[in-house]
Amino acid sequence: ANPPRPALKATDEKSFAFTSTTYRWPIIITKAIDDIYKTRHDIDTSKEPEKAKEGKDIMDSIALLKYEMQRKRQLTPIEDDGEPDINTYNEVFTRYFKEENWYSASWLFTECYLYRRIRSILAKTKYWRNYDPFFRQKEEIIKASFAAIIELAKRIDELISNQNHDKKILFHELAQISLWGNATDLSLLTNLNYNDINKLQSIDAKALEQSENKILVNDLEKLWNKLSHYQQKRIDFVLDNAGFELYGDLIFADWLIQAGYASEIYLHIKAIPWFVSDTTSNDFNLLLSSLKNGSLSASSDEKIYLEKLAKRWQEYIENNKWILKSDYFWTSPYSYWHLKEQAPELFTDISKSSLVIFKGDLNYRKLVYDCKWPTTTPFKEAIGLFATEKSAPPILALRTSKADVIVGLPEGIEERLSALEADWMYSGKYAVIQFNEGNQ
Ligand code: F6P
Ligand code: MG
Repeated sequence: ANPPRPALKATDEKSFAFTSTTYRWPIIITKAIDDIYKTRHDIDTSKEPEKAKEGKDIMDSIALLKYEMQRKRQLTPIEDDGEPDINTYNEVFTRYFKEENWYSASWLFTECYLYRRIRSILAKTKYWRNYDPFFRQKEEIIKASFAAIIELAKRIDELISNQNHDKKILFHELAQISLWGNATDLSLLTNLNYNDINKLQSIDAKALEQSENKILVNDLEKLWNKLSHYQQKRIDFVLDNAGFELYGDLIFADWLIQAGYASEIYLHIKAIPWFVSDTTSNDFNLLLSSLKNGSLSASSDEKIYLEKLAKRWQEYIENNKWILKSDYFWTSPYSYWHLKEQAPELFTDISKSSLVIFKGDLNYRKLVYDCKWPTTTPFKEAIGLFATEKSAPPILALRTSKADVIVGLPEGIEERLSALEADWMYSGKYAVIQFNEGNQ
């Protein structure tokens, strides 16, 4: 499973892999411990002594994991926790990384392994088996995003009821809302306050226009030339973060159905808590129920929009227009170059799609094998089987750049930006929208 170029690794002290491993992950882990602490604190130990005891053990185990990482310890196999993907992880570990430590193994592997280790600690317990240590944070982000959520609910209502809008303009607008939703993921923005979040989520046409020059490659027009001829097709979203990003993705998905381009939309979510904020089925349900149950601070007028939206989305699910799917491949340590060999059924399935939209940074890293490509490498060259397989579907990457890998840039961009901002590639300020036609 060797990448076509040198893999990104935390041994390079100038890399974002190094910053992540050294500074970001300890914060993420500490927050997970705090979360367990809070939940455990509310347990009545006289009534649930075993659950409380397990909570304490979980905190110790996660703290130990942090210690191993910070001491650059060698990686160890993951203990059998009865989950279906345990062998996949341990096979990859044994074949490629058993002599490696948290810095010398590939960054893609260590980061996936980190979240899988946390999962394993919980999966082995009796009372915390299905506990998501990031759920609280995801709940908070929905509450903090209420202003933008309401704005968008009104906007989509207007777009759907007024047929005179130019569809091409709407397509660009909604795709960009879905794109910029990716700027607010919780694993990167560890210290955000409400104002910052509101700023990041400003969605009016002017704000979008201003952000447009931050999109370094924009293939939306190429996609539009194809999609505008679609009638009632299947479209897939390989989703990323819950909360506001998911909401923006669903607004886009809603419009694709309403405008007649899609008749069914597959929404691929994560089977386990993943990279802090990725969408699980609980997160999906939480978003829908927050729209329905009036828990967001909204006026009674605004609540009507939210309820209307929730009702329509609920109907999509009931009528199989929106189909939620999860597959352990999405939380495996493999890059998508290995999709067909590692998850043949999944590959066959998504090959039936007329467009697969990959959201976010991690999906992008996995599409391009998370290695050191020259930034001018054509997108097509970096996406492996999505360019080479006979049945490969058209794909679109909507990604704000949060890791030091990027391809498909025009000559000179890297030099220009590097001279201005050392962290441009991973600051999340810049984005790419990249499309490949597929071979169907
Ligand atoms: O830490 C690695 C990373 O991929 C970052 O580059 C990014 O900040 C985060 O994880 C997840 O980003 P996203 O939610 O966009 O996949
Ligand atoms: Mg994510």
